[in-house]
Amino acid sequence: MCGIVGYIGTKEAYPIIIKGLHRLEYRGYDSAGVALIGNKGALNVYKCKGKVSDLEKFTEQKDKSGNIGMGHTRWATHGEPNDINAHPHYSETKNLVLIHNGIIENYAAIKENLIKRGHTFESQTDTEVLVHFIEEIKEKEGMKLGRAVMAALQQVVGAYSIVVMDKNNPDELVAAKKGSPMVIGIGDNEFFIASDASPIVEYTKNVVYLEDEEVAIVSRGKELKIRTIRDKEITPYVQALEMELEAIEKGGYPHFMLKEIYEQPRSIKDSMRGRLNADKGIVQLGGIVDHEAKFLKAKRIIFIACGTSWHAGLVGEYLFEDLARIPVEVEYASEFRYRNPILYEDDIVIAISQSGETADTLAAIELAKSRGATIIGVCNVVGSSIARATHAGSYTHAGPEIGVASTKAFTAQVTVLTLMALHIAHKKGTITQSRYRQLLYELESIPKKVESVLKLNDQVKYLAGIFKDVRNFLYLGRGYSFPVALEGALKLKEISYIHAEGYPAAEMKHGPIALIDEEMPVVVIATKGANYEKVASNIQEVKARKGKLIAVVTEGDKEVKSVADYTIEIPETDECLVPLLSVIPLQLLSYHIAVMRGCNVDQPRNLAKSVTVE
Ligand code: G6P
Repeated sequence: MCGIVGYIGTKEAYPIIIKGLHRLEYRGYDSAGVALIGNKGALNVYKCKGKVSDLEKFTEQKDKSGNIGMGHTRWATHGEPNDINAHPHYSETKNLVLIHNGIIENYAAIKENLIKRGHTFESQTDTEVLVHFIEEIKEKEGMKLGRAVMAALQQVVGAYSIVVMDKNNPDELVAAKKGSPMVIGIGDNEFFIASDASPIVEYTKNVVYLEDEEVAIVSRGKELKIRTIRDKEITPYVQALEMELEAIEKGGYPHFMLKEIYEQPRSIKDSMRGRLNADKGIVQLGGIVDHEAKFLKAKRIIFIACGTSWHAGLVGEYLFEDLARIPVEVEYASEFRYRNPILYEDDIVIAISQSGETADTLAAIELAKSRGATIIGVCNVVGSSIARATHAGSYTHAGPEIGVASTKAFTAQVTVLTLMALHIAHKKGTITQSRYRQLLYELESIPKKVESVLKLNDQVKYLAGIFKDVRNFLYLGRGYSFPVALEGALKLKEISYIHAEGYPAAEMKHGPIALIDEEMPVVVIATKGANYEKVASNIQEVKARKGKLIAVVTEGDKEVKSVADYTIEIPETDECLVPLLSVIPLQLLSYHIAVMRGCNVDQPRNLAKSVTVE
């Protein structure tokens, strides 16, 4: 969602903040703003609707001096995206400015009281209420800024990461967080504050992740001070950042999404690195070793996730039931958290999240934890809130994913879930030794096979040219390919704004078949496996209604090829590993269609990479 950058030090703050905002733009981007205390002591706030580049144009002729400041990219929650609602927001006297990511749930009540006491507001945001509130406390109680922030946050309900700056104190920034992430970089006589490490990585590798309800007093030339909002002193835990700068740059690709699609041979390999040794018949997942006994006696696994991660959970369902014979449920975190779910102590809850910050997933974890379940995380972002909230877990190690439409994170999640399911199946004895070994070898060969699927790019691009102007798409799959059909449809919707539905192939005749005519492209995953003949019949049903068939088939296929209008041939693999290959042409198809339609692939409208509000 919103992106936050703050800087205090010896350098010019503006270029650092703008560069940081560009790096964070993928999180949310309907408006942007900066606040700087200039060399002459003036508090300069510039903000406007649009992208960070619009903000840069807006500030071209303005005073951008100063070595303390903050910047924000906004994804609207309260109040439409416009210049006024953009952050930073001023306090009543305009001495304080604040930027905020999250939602202040009780802002209306606070605002009402502030209005009664004579405050006036310019925007419709909850954020402006918070900065007025902080200032009121500061003035009334004669408190320092940090103390006033602590006192105000004690009365706030909701989620926030905030940075506050006082015009009259150009040597201090105050940051705080609850629910939304915040990291502080410690440089040489300088500090960086950001929603994630990407704006910081090129300056320092020493970072402190703030915990919920912590307030950081970031003062020029002094040590970082952290207290809880209830005034307990915290010793900052300085960690070394593992991220490399190249990982968050486009590296010659026109879009992050394409770069990330092409990174998959490597990211899948990285997900398996040190965990899989087919020759020795070993799968080891260090992060869950201590919980292995619980896995072995688990009566049920519940996956909780959102979006693409939920689709990975669906693949996980097939894997764990098929290989490890453990019953599985796959839950939307947003539904689960409000459903008073029944949980037992021998349930294993696996939370899947690329960002590790999704608010609904985090809340679902807390609920499951409070009911005694063991929570395992499958996260991509190291040190993220979800990674820290879980009892144990395995990182996906896909590297930073910047494109809003998730690609390499999905295949990395599926890879980790495959390793987990294989390991547990082997330990439980629900898989024969020979199939176990065969699957290990097959999994090891997946990165190479992904490489050969990527060579189909031109063919997929050609198909994109044919179908770029249609209004609807249908995606069908069965068994392991059903979640891939859902994921293919989601990718297309997200970035090209074409309506698309994913459906279990056999369910088509209970509804979507009514939509099929010569205008309707139908993508069917019809690779070799137990359901092949059944899917082939579904394909005939589409054909009979003149739908345009694009089939993803196994190399050498004849039957489906003879019926489909277009086929994409992917290498043969075991049925349970097909999702790792079949999803790739679907990612490419949506990518090329979106580019041809002139859509903003990396930053699709209304979407955010990391959804930190419920
Ligand atoms: C957002 C993103 C999706 C992502 C989903 C879940 O909607 O745009 O790409 O799949 O959130 O995010 P998570 O970080 O929890 O996997």
